[in-house]
Amino acid sequence: MAPKSRETFGSRMGMLLAMAGSAIGLGNIWRFPYTLGQNGGAAFLLLYVLMLVLICLPVMISEYLLGRRGGSNPFRTFDILAPGTKWRWIGFMAVLSSACILSFYCVVGGWSVKYLADACSGVLMSFDGDYSDLFGSFISNPWKPLFYTLVFLGITGLIIALGVRKGIERMSKLMIKVLFLIIVLVVIRSLTLPGAMEGVRYMFVPDFSKVTADTCIAAMGQAFFSLSIGCGCILTYASYVDKKENIAASSAWIAFFDTTFAIVAGLAIIPAVYAIALMNGVNPNVSAGPGLVFITLPGVFKAMPLGGVAALLFFLALLLAAITSAISLMEVVVAFIIEELRRSRVHAVVTCFLLCGGVGVFCSLSFGPLEGFKLFGLSVFDFFDYITSNIMLPAGGLLLAVFAGWRLKRANYLDELTNSGNLNIPRWLSLTIYYLLKLVAPLAISLIFINCILS
Ligand code: TRP
Repeated sequence: MAPKSRETFGSRMGMLLAMAGSAIGLGNIWRFPYTLGQNGGAAFLLLYVLMLVLICLPVMISEYLLGRRGGSNPFRTFDILAPGTKWRWIGFMAVLSSACILSFYCVVGGWSVKYLADACSGVLMSFDGDYSDLFGSFISNPWKPLFYTLVFLGITGLIIALGVRKGIERMSKLMIKVLFLIIVLVVIRSLTLPGAMEGVRYMFVPDFSKVTADTCIAAMGQAFFSLSIGCGCILTYASYVDKKENIAASSAWIAFFDTTFAIVAGLAIIPAVYAIALMNGVNPNVSAGPGLVFITLPGVFKAMPLGGVAALLFFLALLLAAITSAISLMEVVVAFIIEELRRSRVHAVVTCFLLCGGVGVFCSLSFGPLEGFKLFGLSVFDFFDYITSNIMLPAGGLLLAVFAGWRLKRANYLDELTNSGNLNIPRWLSLTIYYLLKLVAPLAISLIFINCILS
C-alpha cells in the first residue's frame, strides 16, 4: 500500500501517550505485582530493571527503528527491509503472537469490566463472604465471563474501528491521563495505612536467595510483556510515526514511564495487602498469583476507610489501562489484515474480534468447564500466557535484535537512529545501543533460555 495513504499520529505527545498506553496495562497493574510477589519481591525487581536496560531497551529501540524505516505492518516491513527473504515470516509470527496475547488478555479485561460494574453497583463492597469464592464462582461460570470478555473485546474493536488518530491516539491520550491521576490517589490511600511500610520494605529490600533460573525467565518475560515488545506492537505504532521523531529518546521515555507505573501500581497494592494483613493478624499473602488483584485486593478495600471509593477508582484504572493496551494488540492484527488481505478497517476489526474472541472463549472456559483440559500440563489460559510472555516475546525480541544488528547495515541503522544525521546523538551512545542490540541482547536472551531449559 502506498505510504501516502497510511494514517499517522497527529502529534508527538499523542504518539508518546499511545505507546505508553500500549505499554502500561494489565501487565503493570495485574501481572507485575503478583509476579513480584511470587518471585520474592525486591530481588525480582532488581533483575527486572537489569533486563530492562540490557535487553529490553535495545530491543525496543530496534523494533521502533524497524517500524519507522519499514513504515508498514510487521509482515510487510520485513519484506521491505529484506526483500524476498524468509524474514517476513518473523513479521507474520509477530502478528500471530499479538493475536494470541489478545486472546487471553481480553479475558482478564473482561474480569475488570465485571469488577468495575460490581464496584459501581456496590455489590463488591457489600459482599460478606470470602472473596475467593466470589471470584471463583464468577470465573468458573460457563457464561458470565464470556459475556464480559466479549464486551471488553467489543470496546477495543470500536476504538480501533475509529482509526489511528480518532481512535487510538485520542483515547490513549485521555485514558492515560485519567489513569495516572487515579493511581496516585490509590497509592496515597494505600501508603497512609498503618503497617504499609512493611510492604514497601518487601518491594525494595532484596533477598537474593530467592533468585533461580525461573526467576530470571519470569523477569525477562515480564519485562517484554510490560513494554509491549517482541510481537510487532511497537513496530506497528512506529510505522505511524513522523520521521523527525527521536527514536532512542522516545523509547527510553516510554520504558521509564512504564517501569515507574509498574512500581507505582505495586505501591498501590502490596503495602495495602501488608497493612490489612497486619491489622487482622494474618500473614500477608502477596503470592496469591493471578487472583491477587481480584481476590486479595477487594478484601483489602473492604477493610479500609474509604475502601469503596478506592475500589471503584482502582478497577476503573485497571480497565482503562487494559483498553489502551488491548487496542495496540488489536491494531497489529488489524493493520496486517488491512494491508495484506486488503480489507476495510471495519472488516478487519470484525475478523479480529471473531478470531481472538473465539480463542478467548477457550481461555475463559479453562477456569470452568474446561478446567481439566491441559496443554503441556497447563490450562489453556496459562498455556497462552506462558508461551507468549516467556517464549514467543523473547524469541521475537531476539530475532528483531538480530535483524537490526546483523541484517540491517550499520550505516542504515545509524542513519535511522540519528534521522539521517539531523539529531545530535553522541556517537558513543549510538554505538553503545548498537552493540547492546547486536551482541548483548541476543546473547543474554539465549543464555536465559538455555539456563531455563537446563535447570
Ligand atoms: N504491555 C501491555 C501490558 O503491560 C500488554 C501488551 C500490549 C503487550 N501490547 C503488547 C504485551 C505487545 C506484549 C506485546 O499490559
